Amino acid sequence: MARKVLAGNWKMHKTRGEARAFVEAFLPLIEPLAADRLVILCGPYTCLDILSANAGPYAVGAQNVHWENSGAYTGEIAPVMLTELGVLYAIVGHSERRQYFNETDATVNRRLKAAQAHDLTPILCVGESEALRLAGQTESHIRFQLDHDLKDIDLDRLIVAYEPIWAIGTGKTCAPVEANRIIGLIREHVGQANLPVLYGGSCNPGNIDAIMAQDKIDGVLVGGASLEVQSFARIVNFEA
Ligand code: G3H
Repeated sequence: MARKVLAGNWKMHKTRGEARAFVEAFLPLIEPLAADRLVILCGPYTCLDILSANAGPYAVGAQNVHWENSGAYTGEIAPVMLTELGVLYAIVGHSERRQYFNETDATVNRRLKAAQAHDLTPILCVGESEALRLAGQTESHIRFQLDHDLKDIDLDRLIVAYEPIWAIGTGKTCAPVEANRIIGLIREHVGQANLPVLYGGSCNPGNIDAIMAQDKIDGVLVGGASLEVQSFARIVNFEA
């Protein structure tokens, strides 16, 4: 059975001291980790070495990756800079990158290719805005993103996260059955039966069991509720 993926995206949160304290308190709460689970902590760049130093029970992910290995790209991060720190995963195309930093499907595609070329498994985020959802364009928008983002991408070394933008950080979780339906469509559209597809958007200790009970959802990408130790430990230890 494929492992369930419980990924925490800390976004722009946690100093090095806070990351150290989190890991120290978190490890005892997830050991022993159920064999069917993979935990990934995606911290800010400044915390990745701290996360790596304690990795094993969990894996380390970054929140972005550039397509070049070096160059005049102020503020960006190269794949080799991440792999050197023991990073195994990289979130690509998060809606906050698309919305605030002009990330496009073309740059998302380049980042995905670079990640895979350096043995980083990308976690591609797709999802619709509230306006698109109300206009009945959820499915067509996601299909468009997948078609453009995944051009010439190795589908065997990929995780996709369905993150409806209206559910991110709002407390408005997508109904688990609806998330399950969209995730089924994503897997079908990509045409890869064993593609891990996660749900992201206001996951918390109160709704994790219902989300993970859905048959097509392989895991979760958690923002706010991954910042607090007890909360993320409860999510990781969801009741199957
Ligand atoms: O990457 C995580 C998602 O943006 C979800 O964030 O759990 O705070 O809604 P959230």
